[in-house]
Amino acid sequence: MTFLFNSDARRGAIFADAFAKELPDVPFTMDAATVDPDAVRYLITWTAPEDLARYRNLEILFSIGAGVDQFRLDSVPEQVKIVRMVEEGIMRMMQEYVTLAVLALHRNLPGYLAQQRAGEWADITQPQAGSRRVGVLGLGQLGQAVLDRLKPFGFPLAGWSRSPRRIAGVTCHHGELGLDEMLAVSDILICLLPLTEGTRGLLDAGLFGKLPEGAALVHTGRGPQLDHEALVAALDGGHLSAAMIDVTDPEPLPASHRFWSHPKVILTPHVASVTQPATAAQAVVENIRRYRAGLDPIGLVDWLRGY
Ligand code: NDP
Ligand code: OXD
Repeated sequence: MTFLFNSDARRGAIFADAFAKELPDVPFTMDAATVDPDAVRYLITWTAPEDLARYRNLEILFSIGAGVDQFRLDSVPEQVKIVRMVEEGIMRMMQEYVTLAVLALHRNLPGYLAQQRAGEWADITQPQAGSRRVGVLGLGQLGQAVLDRLKPFGFPLAGWSRSPRRIAGVTCHHGELGLDEMLAVSDILICLLPLTEGTRGLLDAGLFGKLPEGAALVHTGRGPQLDHEALVAALDGGHLSAAMIDVTDPEPLPASHRFWSHPKVILTPHVASVTQPATAAQAVVENIRRYRAGLDPIGLVDWLRGY
Protein backbone atom coordinates (compact mmCIF):
# COMPACT_ATOMS: atom_id res chain seq x y z
CA MET A 1 0.00 0.00 0.00
CA THR A 2 2.61 2.49 -1.13
CA PHE A 3 2.02 6.26 -1.27
CA LEU A 4 3.57 7.79 -4.41
CA PHE A 5 4.41 11.50 -4.28
CA ASN A 6 4.62 13.14 -7.71
CA SER A 7 5.47 16.80 -7.17
CA ASP A 8 8.49 18.90 -6.27
CA ALA A 9 11.17 17.42 -4.01
CA ARG A 10 11.06 20.25 -1.45
CA ARG A 11 7.40 19.58 -0.70
CA GLY A 12 8.07 15.85 -0.98
CA ALA A 13 10.61 15.95 1.85
CA ILE A 14 7.99 17.52 4.14
CA PHE A 15 5.42 14.88 3.17
CA ALA A 16 8.02 12.12 3.70
CA ASP A 17 8.63 13.35 7.26
CA ALA A 18 4.93 13.47 8.04
CA PHE A 19 4.40 9.93 6.71
CA ALA A 20 7.39 8.58 8.67
CA LYS A 21 5.96 10.05 11.87
CA GLU A 22 2.24 9.60 11.39
CA LEU A 23 1.76 6.63 9.05
CA PRO A 24 4.96 4.55 9.39
CA ASP A 25 3.20 1.46 7.99
CA VAL A 26 2.54 3.20 4.64
CA PRO A 27 5.69 3.07 2.45
CA PHE A 28 6.34 6.52 0.97
CA THR A 29 8.21 7.15 -2.28
CA MET A 30 8.86 9.94 -4.74
CA ASP A 31 10.44 7.60 -7.28
CA ALA A 32 7.93 6.55 -9.94
CA ALA A 33 10.73 4.89 -11.95
CA THR A 34 11.55 2.25 -9.33
CA VAL A 35 8.26 1.82 -7.47
CA ASP A 36 6.38 -1.45 -7.94
CA PRO A 37 3.27 -0.09 -9.73
CA ASP A 38 1.07 -2.83 -8.25
CA ALA A 39 1.98 -1.67 -4.74
CA VAL A 40 0.78 1.92 -5.31
CA ARG A 41 -2.54 2.50 -3.54
CA TYR A 42 -2.30 6.29 -3.12
CA LEU A 43 -0.94 8.86 -5.57
CA ILE A 44 -0.63 12.62 -5.06
CA THR A 45 0.04 14.78 -8.10
CA TRP A 46 -1.04 17.96 -9.90
CA THR A 47 -1.78 16.42 -13.30
CA ALA A 48 -2.49 12.71 -13.73
CA PRO A 49 0.55 10.98 -15.28
CA GLU A 50 0.15 9.66 -18.85
CA ASP A 51 0.77 6.14 -17.54
CA LEU A 52 -1.85 6.29 -14.76
CA ALA A 53 -3.26 2.94 -15.92
CA ARG A 54 -0.09 1.15 -14.78
CA TYR A 55 -1.16 1.70 -11.14
CA ARG A 56 -3.75 -1.05 -11.36
CA ASN A 57 -4.43 -1.11 -7.62
CA LEU A 58 -4.70 2.64 -7.16
CA GLU A 59 -7.41 3.54 -4.62
CA ILE A 60 -7.07 7.29 -4.14
CA LEU A 61 -5.80 9.93 -6.52
CA PHE A 62 -5.05 13.05 -4.44
CA SER A 63 -4.78 16.45 -6.09
CA ILE A 64 -1.92 18.52 -4.70
CA GLY A 65 -4.16 21.56 -5.26
CA ALA A 66 -7.74 22.54 -4.46
CA GLY A 67 -8.87 22.15 -8.08
CA VAL A 68 -9.32 18.84 -9.92
CA ASP A 69 -10.21 20.14 -13.41
CA GLN A 70 -6.64 19.38 -14.55
CA PHE A 71 -7.31 15.63 -14.13
CA ARG A 72 -9.73 14.96 -17.02
CA LEU A 73 -12.04 12.94 -14.81
CA ASP A 74 -13.08 10.58 -17.63
CA SER A 75 -9.50 9.29 -17.94
CA VAL A 76 -9.41 8.13 -14.31
CA PRO A 77 -10.70 4.58 -13.69
CA GLU A 78 -14.12 4.65 -12.03
CA GLN A 79 -13.11 2.77 -8.90
CA VAL A 80 -10.43 5.33 -8.05
CA LYS A 81 -11.51 7.99 -5.55
CA ILE A 82 -10.41 11.52 -6.43
CA VAL A 83 -9.71 13.84 -3.52
CA ARG A 84 -9.03 17.55 -3.83
CA MET A 85 -6.80 19.42 -1.38
CA VAL A 86 -8.61 20.91 1.58
CA GLU A 87 -6.05 22.38 3.92
CA GLU A 88 -5.72 25.39 6.14
CA GLY A 89 -2.76 26.96 4.27
CA ILE A 90 -4.67 27.27 0.98
CA MET A 91 -7.62 28.83 2.80
CA ARG A 92 -5.44 31.36 4.64
CA MET A 93 -3.68 32.47 1.46
CA MET A 94 -6.95 32.81 -0.44
CA GLN A 95 -8.38 34.88 2.41
CA GLU A 96 -5.35 37.19 2.16
CA TYR A 97 -5.53 37.55 -1.62
CA VAL A 98 -9.24 38.21 -1.81
CA THR A 99 -9.12 40.66 1.10
CA LEU A 100 -6.28 42.47 -0.69
CA ALA A 101 -8.29 42.54 -3.92
CA VAL A 102 -11.57 43.67 -2.34
CA LEU A 103 -9.88 46.45 -0.37
CA ALA A 104 -7.86 47.54 -3.43
CA LEU A 105 -11.02 47.75 -5.53
CA HIS A 106 -13.10 49.30 -2.74
CA ARG A 107 -10.45 52.01 -2.16
CA ASN A 108 -10.05 52.69 -5.93
CA LEU A 109 -6.43 51.52 -6.16
CA PRO A 110 -6.49 51.00 -9.97
CA GLY A 111 -7.77 54.59 -10.35
CA TYR A 112 -5.10 56.03 -8.04
CA LEU A 113 -2.34 54.05 -9.79
CA ALA A 114 -3.50 55.50 -13.12
CA GLN A 115 -3.52 59.00 -11.59
CA GLN A 116 -0.02 58.49 -10.20
CA ARG A 117 1.25 57.53 -13.66
CA ALA A 118 -0.43 60.66 -15.06
CA GLY A 119 0.99 62.89 -12.29
CA GLU A 120 -2.51 63.74 -11.09
CA TRP A 121 -3.36 64.55 -7.42
CA ALA A 122 -7.16 64.23 -7.00
CA ASP A 123 -9.81 62.54 -4.86
CA ILE A 124 -11.95 59.73 -6.23
CA THR A 125 -15.37 59.56 -4.57
CA GLN A 126 -15.15 56.99 -1.78
CA PRO A 127 -18.28 55.09 -0.71
CA GLN A 128 -18.26 53.58 2.78
CA ALA A 129 -17.95 49.79 3.16
CA GLY A 130 -21.57 49.55 4.31
CA SER A 131 -22.72 50.56 0.85
CA ARG A 132 -20.21 48.47 -1.18
CA ARG A 133 -21.92 45.13 -1.78
CA VAL A 134 -19.72 42.07 -2.22
CA GLY A 135 -20.92 38.85 -3.89
CA VAL A 136 -19.00 35.57 -4.00
CA LEU A 137 -19.59 32.94 -6.70
CA GLY A 138 -18.93 29.61 -4.96
CA LEU A 139 -19.69 28.92 -1.31
CA GLY A 140 -17.32 26.01 -0.78
CA GLN A 141 -14.24 25.82 1.42
CA LEU A 142 -12.62 28.88 -0.12
CA GLY A 143 -15.72 30.99 -0.77
CA GLN A 144 -16.82 30.57 2.83
CA ALA A 145 -13.34 31.21 4.22
CA VAL A 146 -13.10 34.44 2.22
CA LEU A 147 -16.55 35.63 3.32
CA ASP A 148 -15.63 34.95 6.91
CA ARG A 149 -12.50 37.09 6.61
CA LEU A 150 -14.42 39.95 4.95
CA LYS A 151 -17.09 40.17 7.66
CA PRO A 152 -15.35 42.67 10.00
CA PHE A 153 -15.07 45.32 7.24
CA GLY A 154 -18.83 45.81 7.15
CA PHE A 155 -19.50 45.12 3.45
CA PRO A 156 -23.00 43.70 2.80
CA LEU A 157 -22.11 40.11 1.82
CA ALA A 158 -23.81 37.65 -0.52
CA GLY A 159 -22.87 34.31 -2.04
CA TRP A 160 -24.01 31.89 -4.72
CA SER A 161 -23.83 28.12 -4.90
CA ARG A 162 -25.42 25.23 -6.75
CA SER A 163 -27.38 23.93 -3.77
CA PRO A 164 -29.01 26.04 -1.01
CA ARG A 165 -26.67 27.15 1.81
CA ARG A 166 -27.16 29.06 5.08
CA ILE A 167 -24.23 31.15 6.31
CA ALA A 168 -24.55 33.62 9.18
CA GLY A 169 -24.13 37.20 7.98
CA VAL A 170 -24.29 36.25 4.28
CA THR A 171 -27.31 36.46 1.97
CA CYS A 172 -27.17 33.12 0.18
CA HIS A 173 -28.47 32.52 -3.35
CA HIS A 174 -28.44 29.38 -5.45
CA GLY A 175 -29.28 28.11 -8.91
CA GLU A 176 -29.96 30.09 -12.08
CA LEU A 177 -32.51 32.50 -10.62
CA GLY A 178 -30.35 33.04 -7.57
CA LEU A 179 -27.45 34.07 -9.78
CA ASP A 180 -29.34 36.98 -11.32
CA GLU A 181 -30.54 38.12 -7.90
CA MET A 182 -27.00 38.16 -6.56
CA LEU A 183 -25.41 39.80 -9.60
CA ALA A 184 -27.86 42.71 -9.34
CA VAL A 185 -26.49 43.54 -5.88
CA SER A 186 -22.75 42.81 -6.32
CA ASP A 187 -20.58 45.92 -6.58
CA ILE A 188 -17.56 43.67 -6.21
CA LEU A 189 -17.97 40.16 -7.62
CA ILE A 190 -15.52 37.42 -6.64
CA CYS A 191 -15.31 34.16 -8.57
CA LEU A 192 -14.27 31.14 -6.53
CA LEU A 193 -15.96 28.42 -8.56
CA PRO A 194 -14.45 25.13 -9.68
CA LEU A 195 -14.12 24.66 -13.44
CA THR A 196 -16.89 22.35 -14.69
CA GLU A 197 -19.12 22.29 -17.76
CA GLY A 198 -21.57 24.36 -15.68
CA THR A 199 -19.08 27.14 -14.93
CA ARG A 200 -16.97 27.27 -18.11
CA GLY A 201 -17.44 30.66 -19.76
CA LEU A 202 -19.78 31.87 -16.99
CA LEU A 203 -18.06 35.27 -16.68
CA ASP A 204 -19.24 36.63 -20.01
CA ALA A 205 -20.86 39.74 -21.47
CA GLY A 206 -24.33 38.63 -20.35
CA LEU A 207 -23.18 38.20 -16.76
CA PHE A 208 -21.28 41.50 -16.71
CA GLY A 209 -24.39 43.25 -18.01
CA LYS A 210 -26.33 42.05 -14.95
CA LEU A 211 -23.87 43.66 -12.52
CA PRO A 212 -24.52 47.20 -11.26
CA GLU A 213 -22.91 50.09 -13.17
CA GLY A 214 -19.31 50.53 -12.01
CA ALA A 215 -18.97 47.04 -10.50
CA ALA A 216 -15.57 45.33 -10.24
CA LEU A 217 -14.44 41.72 -10.63
CA VAL A 218 -12.01 39.54 -8.68
CA HIS A 219 -11.27 36.32 -10.54
CA THR A 220 -9.53 33.56 -8.61
CA GLY A 221 -11.41 30.52 -9.95
CA ARG A 222 -10.13 29.14 -13.24
CA GLY A 223 -9.08 30.82 -16.49
CA PRO A 224 -11.65 29.21 -18.84
CA GLN A 225 -14.50 30.65 -16.75
CA LEU A 226 -13.69 34.16 -18.03
CA ASP A 227 -14.36 35.61 -21.49
CA HIS A 228 -11.37 37.94 -21.79
CA GLU A 229 -12.76 39.99 -24.68
CA ALA A 230 -16.06 40.52 -22.90
CA LEU A 231 -14.21 41.75 -19.83
CA VAL A 232 -12.10 44.20 -21.81
CA ALA A 233 -15.24 45.47 -23.59
CA ALA A 234 -17.07 45.94 -20.25
CA LEU A 235 -14.06 47.82 -18.81
CA ASP A 236 -13.51 49.97 -21.89
CA GLY A 237 -17.23 50.72 -22.17
CA GLY A 238 -17.25 51.83 -18.51
CA HIS A 239 -19.89 49.39 -17.25
CA LEU A 240 -17.22 47.69 -15.12
CA SER A 241 -14.70 49.85 -13.25
CA ALA A 242 -11.81 47.45 -12.63
CA ALA A 243 -10.74 43.82 -12.30
CA MET A 244 -8.17 41.90 -10.35
CA ILE A 245 -7.38 38.72 -12.25
CA ASP A 246 -5.32 35.79 -10.96
CA VAL A 247 -6.29 33.06 -13.42
CA THR A 248 -6.40 33.22 -17.22
CA ASP A 249 -6.65 30.98 -20.25
CA PRO A 250 -3.96 30.35 -21.38
CA GLU A 251 -1.48 30.65 -18.54
CA PRO A 252 0.81 32.47 -18.98
CA LEU A 253 -0.86 35.04 -21.20
CA PRO A 254 0.81 35.89 -24.53
CA ALA A 255 2.96 39.05 -24.44
CA SER A 256 0.48 40.96 -26.62
CA HIS A 257 -2.56 40.31 -24.39
CA ARG A 258 -4.56 43.40 -23.32
CA PHE A 259 -4.56 42.44 -19.63
CA TRP A 260 -0.80 43.12 -19.27
CA SER A 261 -1.18 46.84 -19.80
CA HIS A 262 -4.87 47.54 -19.30
CA PRO A 263 -5.14 50.44 -16.82
CA LYS A 264 -8.20 48.92 -15.15
CA VAL A 265 -6.72 45.43 -14.71
CA ILE A 266 -4.45 44.22 -11.95
CA LEU A 267 -2.97 40.89 -13.03
CA THR A 268 -1.24 38.25 -10.90
CA PRO A 269 0.20 34.95 -12.25
CA HIS A 270 -2.06 32.33 -10.57
CA VAL A 271 -0.62 32.87 -7.12
CA ALA A 272 -3.72 33.76 -5.11
CA SER A 273 -3.21 30.64 -3.06
CA VAL A 274 -0.63 27.89 -2.97
CA THR A 275 -0.74 24.53 -1.17
CA GLN A 276 1.35 24.71 2.00
CA PRO A 277 3.24 21.41 2.38
CA ALA A 278 3.19 21.04 6.18
CA THR A 279 -0.55 21.55 6.54
CA ALA A 280 -1.26 19.69 3.29
CA ALA A 281 0.73 16.63 4.45
CA GLN A 282 -1.28 16.64 7.68
CA ALA A 283 -4.54 16.84 5.69
CA VAL A 284 -3.52 13.88 3.48
CA VAL A 285 -2.42 11.77 6.49
CA GLU A 286 -5.78 12.51 8.15
CA ASN A 287 -7.63 11.53 4.96
CA ILE A 288 -5.80 8.20 4.70
CA ARG A 289 -6.74 7.53 8.33
CA ARG A 290 -10.36 8.37 7.58
CA TYR A 291 -10.36 6.16 4.48
CA ARG A 292 -8.88 3.24 6.37
CA ALA A 293 -11.56 3.70 9.05
CA GLY A 294 -14.24 3.40 6.35
CA LEU A 295 -15.03 7.13 6.23
CA ASP A 296 -15.07 9.36 3.14
CA PRO A 297 -11.93 11.46 2.76
CA ILE A 298 -12.48 15.22 3.19
CA GLY A 299 -12.58 16.79 -0.29
CA LEU A 300 -13.88 13.65 -2.02
CA VAL A 301 -14.84 14.62 -5.56
CA ASP A 302 -18.32 13.77 -6.81
CA TRP A 303 -17.86 12.39 -10.32
CA LEU A 304 -21.25 13.53 -11.51
CA ARG A 305 -20.91 17.13 -10.27
CA GLY A 306 -17.30 17.25 -11.50
CA TYR A 307 -15.93 18.92 -8.34
P1 NDP B 1 -15.48 23.62 -3.22
O1 NDP B 1 -15.71 22.38 -4.00
O2 NDP B 1 -15.34 23.54 -1.73
O3 NDP B 1 -16.65 24.67 -3.51
C1 NDP B 1 -17.17 24.89 -4.77
C2 NDP B 1 -18.36 25.83 -4.66
O4 NDP B 1 -18.80 26.18 -5.97
C3 NDP B 1 -19.57 25.18 -3.96
O5 NDP B 1 -20.24 26.12 -3.15
C4 NDP B 1 -20.46 24.78 -5.14
O6 NDP B 1 -21.85 24.72 -4.86
C5 NDP B 1 -20.18 25.92 -6.09
N1 NDP B 1 -20.51 25.53 -7.47
C6 NDP B 1 -19.92 24.58 -8.25
N2 NDP B 1 -20.52 24.50 -9.45
C7 NDP B 1 -21.52 25.42 -9.43
C8 NDP B 1 -22.50 25.82 -10.36
N3 NDP B 1 -22.59 25.26 -11.58
N4 NDP B 1 -23.38 26.78 -9.99
C9 NDP B 1 -23.31 27.35 -8.77
N5 NDP B 1 -22.39 27.03 -7.82
C10 NDP B 1 -21.51 26.07 -8.15
O7 NDP B 1 -14.18 24.32 -3.84
P2 NDP B 1 -13.13 25.27 -3.13
O8 NDP B 1 -13.85 26.36 -2.46
O9 NDP B 1 -12.15 24.47 -2.34
O10 NDP B 1 -12.31 25.81 -4.41
C11 NDP B 1 -12.97 26.52 -5.44
C12 NDP B 1 -12.04 26.74 -6.62
O11 NDP B 1 -11.07 27.75 -6.34
C13 NDP B 1 -11.17 25.56 -7.03
O12 NDP B 1 -11.91 24.59 -7.72
C14 NDP B 1 -10.16 26.25 -7.93
O13 NDP B 1 -10.68 26.35 -9.23
C15 NDP B 1 -10.05 27.64 -7.32
N6 NDP B 1 -8.75 27.84 -6.69
C16 NDP B 1 -7.91 28.82 -7.19
C17 NDP B 1 -6.70 29.05 -6.63
C18 NDP B 1 -5.83 30.16 -7.10
O14 NDP B 1 -4.68 30.27 -6.67
N7 NDP B 1 -6.30 31.00 -7.99
C19 NDP B 1 -6.19 28.25 -5.51
C20 NDP B 1 -7.13 27.25 -5.05
C21 NDP B 1 -8.35 27.06 -5.64
P3 NDP B 1 -22.45 23.71 -3.75
O15 NDP B 1 -22.12 24.37 -2.44
O16 NDP B 1 -23.90 23.69 -4.03
O17 NDP B 1 -21.75 22.40 -3.95
C1 OXD C 1 -5.24 25.04 -6.74
C2 OXD C 1 -4.59 26.15 -7.42
O1 OXD C 1 -6.20 24.47 -7.29
O2 OXD C 1 -3.48 26.53 -7.00
O3 OXD C 1 -4.83 24.69 -5.63
O4 OXD C 1 -5.15 26.73 -8.34
